[in-house]
Amino acid sequence: MKYLIFITPIILMLTGCNQSDNHQRVLQNQIDSLQSKLDRSYKPGFGEFMSNIQTHHAKLWFAGENQNWKLADFEINEIKENLEGIQKYCSERKETKSIGMINLAMDSLSNSILKKSKIKFRKNYINLTNSCNSCHQATNHEYNVIVVPKNSPFSNQDFKIKN
Ligand code: HEC
Repeated sequence: MKYLIFITPIILMLTGCNQSDNHQRVLQNQIDSLQSKLDRSYKPGFGEFMSNIQTHHAKLWFAGENQNWKLADFEINEIKENLEGIQKYCSERKETKSIGMINLAMDSLSNSILKKSKIKFRKNYINLTNSCNSCHQATNHEYNVIVVPKNSPFSNQDFKIKN
């Protein structure tokens, strides 16, 4: 009997440890499985963000040319969101470090949209386009040359203001 009184707490302690070990193993397995799901989850690539930016860069021009300032404001914000997306999802790419070189040009163009000035819009749009190319040159993508669009490639969108 004396022997039992002595041994029971030790057995309880040992099984308690075992249980917490098991619990830790279960948690670790769950973490590993979540990590592998995360590694396999879809993340948009740098080129996909750039293709989106290209679309909004083109639409922005036709919005500004039509003095459709609400649409122009929308389009420049789409460019901003894609630039933010690059910072968020492509942080491992070394080119992402150069993204800030476009900020000044973006701010100036935003301002001319707020001021509804077509003259300033044109000047700052060219300025923005030059910044796109400066970054392409800085990141060894100089063969991606961006220009002011001539004709809208979007025949299914009307850029004029609707009253
Ligand atoms: C970080 C600096 C940087 C800035 C600023 C930048 N780009 Fe890019 N751009 C890149 C890089 C890097 C690539 C190559 C992406 C890849 O690896 O697929 C690229 C690729 C592109 C492509 C080719 C996409 C394709 O798959 O055909 C287009 C179009 C493009 N950029 C448009 C623009 C436009 C328009 C702007 C300005 C509004 C701009 N970029 C600003 C770095 C930049």
